[in-house]
Amino acid sequence: MKLKLTFFLICFLFAGVTGVKAQSKTLVINTKTTIAPIQPSMWGLFFEDINFAADGGIYAELVKNRSFEFYKPLMGWKKFGEEYVGQFQIINSQNENNPRFLRLESLQGKELGLVNEGFRGMGVKAGENYLFSIFARQSEGVSALKVELLDSTDSVIGKTEVKNFSGELKKYETKLACTANDAKASLRVTLSGKGALEIDMVSLFPENTWKNRKNGLRADMVQKLADMKPGFLRFPGGCIVEGHELETRYQWKKSVGNVENRQMIVNRWNTEFAHRNAPDYFQSYGLGFYEYFLLSEDIGAEPLPILNCGMACQYNSCELVPLDALDPYIQDVIDLIEFANGATTTKWGKLRADMGHPAPFNMKMVGVGNEQWGTQYVDRLKIFLEILNEKHPEIIFVGGSGPSPDGKDFDYLWTEMRNLDVKLVDEHYYRSPDWFLQNAARYDSYDRKGPKVFAGEYAAHDKEGKDAESRNTWKSALAEAAFMTGLERNADVVHLASYAPLFGNVNAWQWRPDLIWFDNEHVVATPNYYVQKMFSTNAGTDVVSALVDGKALTGQDSLYASATIDSKTSELVVKLVNVAKKPASLNLSLEGRKVSSGEISLQVLINEDLTAYNRIGKPEVVTPAETKLKISGKKIVLNLDAYSVTVARIPLKK
Ligand code: AHR
Repeated sequence: MKLKLTFFLICFLFAGVTGVKAQSKTLVINTKTTIAPIQPSMWGLFFEDINFAADGGIYAELVKNRSFEFYKPLMGWKKFGEEYVGQFQIINSQNENNPRFLRLESLQGKELGLVNEGFRGMGVKAGENYLFSIFARQSEGVSALKVELLDSTDSVIGKTEVKNFSGELKKYETKLACTANDAKASLRVTLSGKGALEIDMVSLFPENTWKNRKNGLRADMVQKLADMKPGFLRFPGGCIVEGHELETRYQWKKSVGNVENRQMIVNRWNTEFAHRNAPDYFQSYGLGFYEYFLLSEDIGAEPLPILNCGMACQYNSCELVPLDALDPYIQDVIDLIEFANGATTTKWGKLRADMGHPAPFNMKMVGVGNEQWGTQYVDRLKIFLEILNEKHPEIIFVGGSGPSPDGKDFDYLWTEMRNLDVKLVDEHYYRSPDWFLQNAARYDSYDRKGPKVFAGEYAAHDKEGKDAESRNTWKSALAEAAFMTGLERNADVVHLASYAPLFGNVNAWQWRPDLIWFDNEHVVATPNYYVQKMFSTNAGTDVVSALVDGKALTGQDSLYASATIDSKTSELVVKLVNVAKKPASLNLSLEGRKVSSGEISLQVLINEDLTAYNRIGKPEVVTPAETKLKISGKKIVLNLDAYSVTVARIPLKK
């Protein structure tokens, strides 16, 4: 092909990059011939209720153990009042989903109540309103229930009252205004007068939730997700899909309908790691499948639920459902499809409509099994697929390749995924930063005719430090960025990718690193988050080739690169990663379409310290800088700083 090159001179100068004199290589980008479309859903999110990501995290409920269903019914609650003035009785009503309630009885008319500690405290803000609700029934003449928000010194910073109770169990709602900021507030409810009251579902939410929804989500945390413009949202995990044992697996049907009827279960991360024990970690299911679908819709992400395949976690009990007893599990998938996509005249479609969403959620993918391995998985998946593919050919059913990115089990599963004609295979890799650098060309040699790859869980695991956030080093993010150029370059094979896990509560985590850290008041984006965001918000529409000396940049001179065309904006989008301690210089040579005059947009993530990380109190140690550069001159020369990720959006002539 005859080359018609147009060169412009652009100087990219970043702090400390002056005087670069290295011998520049030339990155030749063919802007005319596209290699493969990028899936619009390519860069997505993995959500699991681990690290208090749901209860105590994105789910904005401030009361912990609101329905007294934890193993210890008063965990999270402290009795309040003089000794012997009353009693606290936990009564099991035999109601299958929400059996326990509390009978609070004041014998002498003196103050008697309960204080809820929240999730490592309650984060509240001055000037904000909070919605209190409670299910209550008067059993003996109580006149009112005092509701008070207390700061960390137990001073009242907001109050309201609930009264006019009757003998019927009813929901009461009221509002209180908060007068002070506090990260460790608590909620006190106190009986006024002599008598007894039965209470359940004691709840406090900020009025200001994401989209101001009731039973809503923390707006600041959802905003971080929305900012990434994610292509998909995988939920609800992760290992919680499997459970320690089958009994405690995630069951989506228990997570929908009225919140007070959702059956709470233990969170499997409760006891998983002895060194990070969390005895108060349960799943209220307040954030359930309906809310996950709604969240996906809100942030423009394809919903990708993962359901149990008749196996409990193989790291724990390994319990299996017999092969001839899988029907209820398969039915769960079929019913979920009806819940998400079915007509409102169907049983599950009607429930979706009754919950507030008559329109279908248009779900296209469902995962069967999380991180399973061995013949036991393949035998079960086969039975699922025989029925599901026949009944729902419009849905892509995702299979898995186990917990390791290579080895005997991995190879076995991939062979079986091909045999089963699975369309999308979930791969997991939690490995060192070096592994990520060495594997930047991992997908260059993947079979183009087989199933597509869902890089469903990955993160570079660097050394651990003292701060919760300290494992999210710049080194780990840089390595992931280098690796992700390989995902993008192979977008014909890699259809979806997501970092994992998503959220970590700095005061209650079990697993790190995580993409986003938070406490009751703050949300911190890690360097890894910014890398993900740079890729997802600059995905482009089609991959084009970007070669040095005829080869993709997969680590030569410590450089990594990929390039896409954005046909919607008519731009060339180049991603460049320099993992070396020294700056590099790269000439850019465009074959095919010409650069149009105007400006180049640049986003650069950079730090000279590979151990740097963002944390609460110091959230902006590693953050991207944006600049615009006028195109002038004849040549494009990219000067890439040491340890840097650069995204350049270059306007092309149509
Ligand atoms: O992301 C944390 C855990 O890693 C997930 O729950 C599981 O799928 C994997 O082992």
